[in-house]
Amino acid sequence: MYVCICNAIRITELRDAAQRCHGDAEAIYASLGRPPQCRQCIEEAEDIIEEERIAAKLPVALSH
Ligand code: FES
Repeated sequence: MYVCICNAIRITELRDAAQRCHGDAEAIYASLGRPPQCRQCIEEAEDIIEEERIAAKLPVALSH
């Protein structure tokens, strides 16, 4: 399932990247080489990133 249609970013890909890359959704998208376009997915992506970092006991970005 995709979280970002514009960039074809899957939820699993976003979760993996959230553990490797610090920063918000925009930073993670950039780390994947796919910066945000329409931005409609950003809020949902931020929720998924936060959820993943809490589950992995990683620091949660404060820019949410
Ligand atoms: S759906 Fe993610 S930038 Fe458009």
